[in-house]
Amino acid sequence: MNTDYEDLIAQADALTCGVPHLVANLANVSALIFDTLDDLNWAGFYLLEGETLVLGPFQGKPACIEIPVSRGVCGAAVRENRSQLVKDVHAFAGHIACDCASRSELVVPLHRHGAVFGVLDLDSPSLARFTEADRAGMERLAAALERNLFSE
Ligand code: SME
Repeated sequence: MNTDYEDLIAQADALTCGVPHLVANLANVSALIFDTLDDLNWAGFYLLEGETLVLGPFQGKPACIEIPVSRGVCGAAVRENRSQLVKDVHAFAGHIACDCASRSELVVPLHRHGAVFGVLDLDSPSLARFTEADRAGMERLAAALERNLFSE
């Protein structure tokens, strides 16, 4: 269950370093995360367009296409500009259930030139799947990704 974030981040860095294709990079990183972490039912990205998060590359079941920033765990990550670790999604007011199997969630904002441009969203069918170590690890992965996506 404990993820080796050093190794995961090194792999994400190797996949995306020098690759000038946003969709390809996000697709590969969602696949890497989904393949590496245990007990996930969804891993992927939503990208901010105005006040709406729009579905980006992901792994898992088909998901909600648009999430207003005013709603959901993903919206909260954008509004508060900080990651959201939700141990029980049923206890989170405004949670959006794209897959009713989801029981816990971790959402990390991604930035471009200091502004939020999207979120990384992870869902698990298990209660309290994500720990503070996962939050810290995914925040480090997000920072590495931001460097490679927007190195221009
Ligand atoms: N649960 C999210 C919606 C996205 S799905 O989990 C893929 C939310 O409440 O924002």
